Amino acid sequence: MQKFMAEQQVFADNTLLLDSRAEHIPRGVVTAHPLVIAKGKGAEVWDIEGNRYLDFVAGIGVLNVGHNHPAVVSAVQQQLQQVSHVCFQVAAYPGYIELARRLNQLMGSDVAYKSIFFTSGAEAVENAVKIARAYTGRSGVIAFDGAFHGRTSLGIALTGMSQPYKQNFGPFPGDIYRVPFPNTFHGITEITCLAALESLFVAQIQAERVAAIIIEPIQGDGGFLPASPHFMQALRQLTQQHGIVLICDEIQSGFGRTGKMFGYEHSGIVPDLITVAKSLGGGLPISGVIGRGDIMDAALPGGLGGTYGGNALACAAALAVLDLMEEGTLLVRANTLGQQLRARLQQLAEKYACIGDVRGTGFMLAAEIVDPDSRKPDAALTQKILDYACQEGLLLIKCGVYRNTIRFLAPLVTSDSQLEEASHIFDIALARASGRLG
Ligand SMILES: Cc1ncc(COP(=O)(O)O)c(C=O)c1O
Repeated sequence: MQKFMAEQQVFADNTLLLDSRAEHIPRGVVTAHPLVIAKGKGAEVWDIEGNRYLDFVAGIGVLNVGHNHPAVVSAVQQQLQQVSHVCFQVAAYPGYIELARRLNQLMGSDVAYKSIFFTSGAEAVENAVKIARAYTGRSGVIAFDGAFHGRTSLGIALTGMSQPYKQNFGPFPGDIYRVPFPNTFHGITEITCLAALESLFVAQIQAERVAAIIIEPIQGDGGFLPASPHFMQALRQLTQQHGIVLICDEIQSGFGRTGKMFGYEHSGIVPDLITVAKSLGGGLPISGVIGRGDIMDAALPGGLGGTYGGNALACAAALAVLDLMEEGTLLVRANTLGQQLRARLQQLAEKYACIGDVRGTGFMLAAEIVDPDSRKPDAALTQKILDYACQEGLLLIKCGVYRNTIRFLAPLVTSDSQLEEASHIFDIALARASGRLG
């Protein structure tokens, strides 16, 4: 592994710092890899011992433009010299307004759009629900099994995975309902899911009491499951029929990850509200809700906001990210990288029986790991593969309701040789985990 001399080596090695982490930080926040990172650039990071890793997690889909993109660094530096924080509820500043204008413009001109900014993805989700409830005067919200919408109380109430997210954190906010999400590999058909919605309207909540349906067009933490255009169109039709606000959560699937700016664009529908975060800020914390102006204006003055929401540094970073996205090359690159990685994963699926499924959209791809004999989800084997990959210099994390799916969220600036190197390491990790190598 290449070595990098960290400039500020307060601690000499990962283990010492991780001991300190265990002493001072609660176990509730998990760190997937036993590493302490000192530096990042593009698709690579270096730990405090100087070891280099290919970062195919990228802050969990935050760094589509790569670590420390020079344009983002320069925009933030320039903003820092002007003003770092104002608080939009106190006084406006150009970056916030310009970012809203640019995102609204992205949505097109069929209707007027408006945008508001927050800090985390969960906050964006919370606020999208608040806005939908204010607009419709209804309270019900429908979410999907396997969905992940954040770790606040409403976020985990909407999240469709019991462990580790829900634990004993209840009671949760009320009037949240859940239906299955299509999953071909596990035999859950679209027909089943749409029928579940119809029966929910009959048995649990009348459609006319539902404020919103929230969906990830490509489910992220739930296992990188794309909803088909047909399914998205059926939801759009149903929500329009019943006056329900359709919210697309693009927090993980947005900003070029799937080869289009937003995941919903693959289905030919337009949602009413979109939640964004992660790669919008290129590494700085910013989230937002973009939506139809009439819906966005439903909340009364003072009802929305937050001290750090749309912080000036984060807005500057986001504007730099949008410039990069609008150049167009990153979207093309996402498609090219996606095709290359899919082909490599499919080759590996031929070689290793433990790869049960390869799926995803654009450069949002995953491999589901199963027991080679029983074909059942194998979380233990998945963890082994991840650990071996990390030891060989490739960072990956898992997802899926069974925690047996390995997701690839590499930056869109990943080079061909980095992709090839990562595929090679993944091959070695699979071989070691399957007992084919020592
Ligand atoms: C689809 C989706 N929604 C919401 C969130 C929550 O975002 P945050 O962790 O920034 O609160 C995430 C985070 O992974 C996500 O993937």
